[in-house]
Amino acid sequence: MYAFSRTVNSMHSEDIKLLMKQSSGEGMISFAGGMPNNDLFPVSEIDEIYNNLNDDIKKLCFQYGPTTGYPPLVRSLQKLMLRKGLPAKTDKVLITTGSLQAISIITQEFVNEGDVILTESPCFVGAISVFETYGAKIVSIPIDSEGIDIQFLKNAIETLNKPPKFLYITPNFHNPAGIIYTEERRKELLSVLSGTDIILIEDDAYGDLYFDRKDKGLTKPIKSFEGYEVEIIYTGSFSKILGPGFRLGYMLSSFEIFDKAESIKQALDACTSNFMQILATEFITGGYLEPYLKFLRKEYSERKILLQESLKTHMPKGINWVEPRGGFYIWLSLPQQVKASSLFTDCLKKGVVFVTGRTFDPENHKDDHIRLSFSNMPKDTIEKGVILLSQVIQDHIRDVENLEFRRENQ
Ligand SMILES: Cc1ncc(COP(=O)(O)O)c(C=O)c1O
Repeated sequence: MYAFSRTVNSMHSEDIKLLMKQSSGEGMISFAGGMPNNDLFPVSEIDEIYNNLNDDIKKLCFQYGPTTGYPPLVRSLQKLMLRKGLPAKTDKVLITTGSLQAISIITQEFVNEGDVILTESPCFVGAISVFETYGAKIVSIPIDSEGIDIQFLKNAIETLNKPPKFLYITPNFHNPAGIIYTEERRKELLSVLSGTDIILIEDDAYGDLYFDRKDKGLTKPIKSFEGYEVEIIYTGSFSKILGPGFRLGYMLSSFEIFDKAESIKQALDACTSNFMQILATEFITGGYLEPYLKFLRKEYSERKILLQESLKTHMPKGINWVEPRGGFYIWLSLPQQVKASSLFTDCLKKGVVFVTGRTFDPENHKDDHIRLSFSNMPKDTIEKGVILLSQVIQDHIRDVENLEFRRENQ
């Protein structure tokens, strides 16, 4: 027996290990992985970019860089952020090794063991695992189809005997719930947080992946809203718009928060890979990003339509979901009597996998939802997967009905 530290005890880390394994299971139809399909990556563009780099820049790829990030990438991001209305001139950008590292840095910056933080329920499991690792006491607030439940949030803030350090949310194309916050809900949230010391962490990993151009305006970051006194840390990622293998993310915050974050990052990994930062910079400045995003939006939108239509055709009554307007996920709610965990076991035998709702529940027990990811799915297997899944769900509903019938007639 080793004397492991307390930080290895995150319940959700085990879920993530399992999730990664299931996402890549040989011969499985997998709705599990929240990542792009390998066939979508911009391989030839990156080849072209690398081959066209001059020798001095190529050498720089192999070198350490500044802890805060490769300056040309910081400048490119600032421009992109300004276009979204973000205060990238006054606030500071820190490049991180994936946006999960940004979440980790922020948590280390603010959370002492036992401190209270607020999250949504359901919540991105990677973030839950970070919060657990640093000993945060998570209080989760339910979301509905328009965003976080404001009344629930107000009650939680009023009744907690320790003020929460921050609230972590994913307002655009939520993982796992697939929803987008309405403008009204964003403003209500800002009103509730105004004047409190609760920092808002706005995770915008999916904001660029709307399906319809008309919806672009809906993704306007909360950090760009004016007239509220709320400290907001905005995080973003290249994982969903270039490739998770780049391990590139970033955070935008006030100078004071940035300054401490830089020291934490220095101790974590000194700097994010210069290689990846240089390739990403050229991807943006060389004019590759916009056409690639257009391509991704079309691909994901087509997958979403196929999944949405298959679900409408094959799912039995009692299964509900909100049709997503962007992102990677559809979040199915199950009838009361059907348990996601036992569905999972039976689906696995039939060769189809997904992620159970419990994984995204900070309290780790809700068993009434499943997450279907369409981002990693070849288009021609979506319907087959849905048919298998719906057959198993129907079997479960029938089994429960039979059991109830027998009970009533005993
Ligand atoms: C909401 C959300 N935030 C952050 C991340 C992590 O992204 P990264 O690969 O940049 O660490 C993910 C990845 O699935 C995510 O879904």
